[in-house]
Amino acid sequence: SFTPRVFSGIQPSGGLTLGNYLGAIKRFVDMQDSGIQTLYCMVDLHAITVWQDPAALTRNTRELAAGYLAAGIDPARSILFNQSQVPEHAQLGWIFNCVARMGWMGRMTQWKDKAGKNAENASLGLFGYPALMAADILVYHATHVPVGEDQKQHIELTRDIAAKFNHDYGVDFFPMTEPVIEGAATRVMSLRDGSRKMSKSDPSDMSRINMTDDADAIAKKIRKAKTDPEPLPETVEGLKDRPEARNLVNIYAALSDQSVEAVIAAHAGAQFGTFKPALVDLAVDKLAPISSEMARLMDDPAEIDRLLGKGAAQAREIATPILQKTYDIVGM
Ligand code: ADP
Ligand code: NA
Repeated sequence: SFTPRVFSGIQPSGGLTLGNYLGAIKRFVDMQDSGIQTLYCMVDLHAITVWQDPAALTRNTRELAAGYLAAGIDPARSILFNQSQVPEHAQLGWIFNCVARMGWMGRMTQWKDKAGKNAENASLGLFGYPALMAADILVYHATHVPVGEDQKQHIELTRDIAAKFNHDYGVDFFPMTEPVIEGAATRVMSLRDGSRKMSKSDPSDMSRINMTDDADAIAKKIRKAKTDPEPLPETVEGLKDRPEARNLVNIYAALSDQSVEAVIAAHAGAQFGTFKPALVDLAVDKLAPISSEMARLMDDPAEIDRLLGKGAAQAREIATPILQKTYDIVGM
């Protein structure tokens, strides 16, 4: 009985990668055509769970906004805003800190990966991050969250928090949000190591394609991408146990809006010496217009700030009554 609503966010903690684009932003753009209300966010409160240089955070937030817009997020059809400008996220986040259990947080694989063996020195915010993420989603009663595969566990936790809140207070107030993890590129892998996801925090720049990379950089990274010596197989099953080959085919499929099956059918038996240049042409063709539009938008930061201010006001119109009702339920 909840009206369908889409929410998702990306951290302004560095430049956008091809993984963020194919796994998240490109899907966000598609969802604008679904007829469902869409809200997209720069989650700066999440970014500062690890140290961010203040000037870099400001620049990265605007650059991420430029990335959303350049990729096709339309402020007339989506609410685009900055998390810290909608204080209801942090307010509901506190309530969820009191609902979520320490043990739930300790089991998150992203926490284990990011804090590693040095958990004593990680910020409290990094540990509690998924409770704030639950608030990001539930302060809009969002029913659907498009994300990459790495976020699946956090969406499950969001449901656990919603269920415990509903149970503890005897209400049916927060929806059971569904992750939307679809398409050929739900987990884009590093170009240097087929067992790691492509990430903006990987120390090797050759491991990822950045949305601001020029044609030469894209060509060089794809040419040097790690592969095996075999040609592409005749069927998708032949990609099993070939993570690097599978990754390049997935990227090709997602960039060209085709299924993996269709890409394999068209390139069966091709050597990487042929397939990689085809992928370079496709990637440059699809990404160059986005990076040049990002650069154009970054020339006018005041206009970006104006758009985000408008988006925050629209977001608050939805969030304020939901937070108010939450306070009522809690007895505040
Ligand atoms: P990052 O992991 O690059 O720091 P975020 O944690 O802000 O980025 O994630 C933003 C969105 O991008 C999430 O929906 C996440 O699932 C998606 N995403 C991040 N990396 C990848 C990847 N390598 N492949 C597919 N989706 C990804
Ligand atoms: Na992530």
